Amino acid sequence: MKKFFLKRSKQEQKLKHLTGLCNIPASEITLLLDLAADFKRELISGNPSFEQSLRNKRIALVFFENSTRTRFSFEIAARHLGAGTLNFSASSSSVSKGETLGDTIKNLEAMQVDGFVLRHPSSGAADLITGITSKTVINAGDGSHEHPTQALLDMFTLRDYFGKIEKLKVVIIGDVLHSRVARSNIYGLLATGADVGICCPVTLMPPDADRLGVTLFTDLDRAITWADSAIVLRLQLERATGGYLPSLEEYSVHYGLTDERLERTQKHLLVLHPGPINREIEISNHVADRIQPPGYSKSVLLEQVTNGVAIRMAVMQTLLAQQ
Ligand code: CP
Repeated sequence: MKKFFLKRSKQEQKLKHLTGLCNIPASEITLLLDLAADFKRELISGNPSFEQSLRNKRIALVFFENSTRTRFSFEIAARHLGAGTLNFSASSSSVSKGETLGDTIKNLEAMQVDGFVLRHPSSGAADLITGITSKTVINAGDGSHEHPTQALLDMFTLRDYFGKIEKLKVVIIGDVLHSRVARSNIYGLLATGADVGICCPVTLMPPDADRLGVTLFTDLDRAITWADSAIVLRLQLERATGGYLPSLEEYSVHYGLTDERLERTQKHLLVLHPGPINREIEISNHVADRIQPPGYSKSVLLEQVTNGVAIRMAVMQTLLAQQ
């Protein structure tokens, strides 16, 4: 049974919650990525075996929005470390009878839950519940605010492929305005020394874009020519993106990542997407599924998902193991 530890010096303060990457120092991010790398090596060894560092811990996966990747990878990660999980979905809970988020969390805490993984449609929900519970809170995506474990797994994937994050040029393409993935990646990538670009129509550019410390593009060919890697965002149709765009067809023509565009710009990009993807809108089928092109752009969408398990193991062990 393998033991993996965060190699933190005595002076460094322990994290209690992970609600976002804003204000998380590069040193802490690097420790999490290093620990995830240890976990990933074991995960893909064919016969993974881990110390049950979260034995006797109960983690509530509290999802007020649908999820495939995040929910399952937290659950798998928790089981690898020996934790028990409690699955909560709003539609089958007393939220449907009018119970508040705060009362829901307090009631789960009263059942001796040790930590909360929260996904919620409201920006700030994860920070809000850190003031309600004494237990650890991990943000699994809150409104348009942050999705820190997604950004960590994206950064892990970039570091795995390029060997480093520092000085890497990463362009985030698409619905930046509504994207918690974009916000967390911007904070995390800038903290660890990457050059970050964002590329989107002006209507999907955040109002504070020129204060984020990123390079702004509205022309996708120019953005691709600048970048080493692209994180393509899902057009968030459920967050009323339609009102910001003349039509999906037009968006796809100007901002869709296609083979034709990659060939035209002659760039070999590493292509990431957090999922779920809107095929043939922000990314073509061919680019999304392009796994092993010889000397060409490469998509690593499923590798990101694998890396998500390792990252969530690293986060949960770091926050919960010594509680
Ligand atoms: N990337 C991501 O958060 O996917 P899910 O919504 O499926 O969890």
